[in-house]
Amino acid sequence: MKLFLDSADPKEIASAVATGLVDGVTTNPSLAAKTGMKLTDALRAICEMVPGSVSAEVTATDADAMIAEGKHLAKIASNITVKVPLTWDGLRACKALSGEGHTVNVTLCFSPNQALLAAKAGATFISPFIGRLDDIGADGMELIREIRLIYDNYNFATEILAASIRHPMHVREAALAGADVCTLPPALFKQLAHHPLTDKGLAAFLEDWKKTGQSIL
Ligand code: G3P
Repeated sequence: MKLFLDSADPKEIASAVATGLVDGVTTNPSLAAKTGMKLTDALRAICEMVPGSVSAEVTATDADAMIAEGKHLAKIASNITVKVPLTWDGLRACKALSGEGHTVNVTLCFSPNQALLAAKAGATFISPFIGRLDDIGADGMELIREIRLIYDNYNFATEILAASIRHPMHVREAALAGADVCTLPPALFKQLAHHPLTDKGLAAFLEDWKKTGQSIL
């Protein structure tokens, strides 16, 4: 499973990228607003750091304007993936942009039927929002499982990008359900490596090693 960072902040992305484990980045207008940076400057900086897909979201709501914005964003760098919302206009824009060779991420997906339409529109990625479904008492992970089944039934190449991921259990369950990608807030990305038994075990190993008076180098 690929791991993307869900952030538009080049500084917080830089520290995670240093691990060599970041496969891509997803941004959205809310994340962009938090940075206080000009969107194109932030995207350019992120694309220089991350060789994989960097999603940049359009803000127009009609298909023709989405296509124009998408083409403009795609000029920033060759690894920009144009992100469009899952609306009729967004699907039209996805079909047009993917037909011209752009990679497209269709976002704000909350149902299997929406995901089916996005795949038919040639989406590179579909972004089901797990946490926001859980927030309203639905089962976000069930959506991932159903999309996986539908895409496998018809050999759709669209990758399932699990988004709105809020805690480590979401990552574990998305991986078990066969999501192709998980996009994580940077703090959660770091949290994945932590386990109290790892810390406790390491402290004991180091304590015992100290008693030997040896050093490896
Ligand atoms: O990329 C968008 C998505 O991950 C949003 O997450 O936590 O705002 O629902 P959240």
